[in-house]
Amino acid sequence: MSALSTFHPESNVAVIGASGGIGQALVELLATDPRVASLQAFCRSPESLNRGRAKIGRVDVTDESSISAAAEATAASGPVDLVIVASGILHREPDIQPEKSLRELDPQNLMTAFSINAIGPAMVAKHFLPHMRRDHKTVFAAMSARVGSISDNRLGGWASYRSSKAALNMLLKTISIEHARQYPRSVIAGLHPGTVATNLSSPFTRRVPEGRLFTPAMSAEYLLRVINALEPADSGGLFAWNGERIEF
Ligand SMILES: NC(=O)c1ccc[n+]([C@@H]2O[C@H](COP(=O)([O-])OP(=O)(O)OC[C@H]3O[C@@H](n4cnc5c(N)ncnc54)[C@H](OP(=O)(O)O)[C@@H]3O)[C@@H](O)[C@H]2O)c1
Repeated sequence: MSALSTFHPESNVAVIGASGGIGQALVELLATDPRVASLQAFCRSPESLNRGRAKIGRVDVTDESSISAAAEATAASGPVDLVIVASGILHREPDIQPEKSLRELDPQNLMTAFSINAIGPAMVAKHFLPHMRRDHKTVFAAMSARVGSISDNRLGGWASYRSSKAALNMLLKTISIEHARQYPRSVIAGLHPGTVATNLSSPFTRRVPEGRLFTPAMSAEYLLRVINALEPADSGGLFAWNGERIEF
């Protein structure tokens, strides 16, 4: 049975950030879905990906020409139904760690977070959205995070990550308003995948209560359920793995 029952029966789907924990799990799940007629998986090092059913290509979200080439390659299979941006950065060895205090704020690290977490997905939207199908529901979803919610910020810390995800949320909202004028059946949304056991979260999950740390496969299944349930009226919003809307 298809997890994408609300989508076109022969959907053309692209995942960007397909080498990550969540990206890979999404590609594996989408590859088995009977409504996915064409699946494109993009990441910075395509040689590292297991091919399976997906067509593989290179995208670095900080390199706009790689994004426009990926959009053209995806559109060569027909109008695009679903785009999921699963790339992102929280830390990078040896130079980037999420800030615990103001003293640790570094302009270069802030710029790196904004460049990968906010500007990258916006550039993906710029190049993929003109290729979306018009006569059926479509979804453009980017992995955001609950910690990018300004109203939910009670702990502070992680300034680069939080603020870059908040910027992503605003970019998605802004883009959704313009896109809906020509594509009224479209949905553009930020998604919070839950706390998921991946490289990104591994240094910070020691105190996550039992049962609250998802495997990437569980998160991918929840995310596709949310994506399938989204409607045009939801466009511009931020949604958690269980479908709950997260206030900005
Ligand atoms: N895991 C969680 O608990 C959690 C919670 C909330 C939100 N999220 C969000 O979910 C998304 C996926 O995270 P994950 O947990 O799957 O982390 P992950 O396993 O570390 O995957 C991150 C992915 O981002 C890619 N990436 C980094 N910089 C890139 C760039 N310049 N161009 C293209 N791709 C780039 C990485 O590619 P390389 O393999 O080339 O480095 C990797 O595929 C992120 O946006 C993250 O913020 C995760």
